[in-house]
Amino acid sequence: MLNLIIVDSEVELAKKASKIIINKLRQKNNLVLGLATGQTPLLTYQYLIKDHQKNNRCYQNVTTFNLDEYIGINEDNKCSYHYYMKHNLFDHLDLKKENIFIPKGTNDYLQYAQEYDNLIASKNGIDLQVLGLGVNGHIGFNEPYTNPKLKTHVVDLTESTIKANARFFKKISDVPKQAVSMGISSILNAKEILLIAFGSTKALAIKKLFNLLKPDPALPCSYLLNHKKVTVIIDAKAGQLLK
Ligand code: F6R
Repeated sequence: MLNLIIVDSEVELAKKASKIIINKLRQKNNLVLGLATGQTPLLTYQYLIKDHQKNNRCYQNVTTFNLDEYIGINEDNKCSYHYYMKHNLFDHLDLKKENIFIPKGTNDYLQYAQEYDNLIASKNGIDLQVLGLGVNGHIGFNEPYTNPKLKTHVVDLTESTIKANARFFKKISDVPKQAVSMGISSILNAKEILLIAFGSTKALAIKKLFNLLKPDPALPCSYLLNHKKVTVIIDAKAGQLLK
């Protein structure tokens, strides 16, 4: 069941998304939060930081699990998702280091990927998973035709994703070709899911998603149709092809 909310702008989207996360946190101070990186959640994270600073919102009992990490770049590399999370969110909240989990992209990344879903289960599962949306409909780095039964695993990034993510790197050849990502099955295990997307580049994927009655392997986000509690927040541009 997808609950669709269309807002006017990226700012409205971030305000709404952050409110949903904060409300969850108010209900449960030991929230287990699934987090995404990329352009989309940046402003939402800024609103979380503002709220933390203004209202003393406490994250000391919160646990976070990130969706993914590139393979082959170090955690202190500016393009890694470890770096992104540290600088765009974690450094500004009072989370405990030991409660922060991100798939590894170097060293024993394979072994850690295999343990990742057990780690999530050991915290009683993710209460709210935040997702962005790839231009090709990916969630996490689960590209089209990925096996939906997979848990956290190594993925080969598609040309489309490499191109889309080249904006974060100096040159396209610097974009890693592989990543570790929570699988569709890991994502669907979350108790609640919040998918956010803005801008016209996401409009086609959004149109396809809302025209489907059941999942289509060509559009990984459509597996969300199998989940009972998904909120989708988009801006008008991402919704421009919806009738
Ligand atoms: C990031 C992730 C990806 C992004 C998606 C959209 O952790 O899992 O699925 O959410 O590629 O990226 P942006 O927000 O940069 O358009």
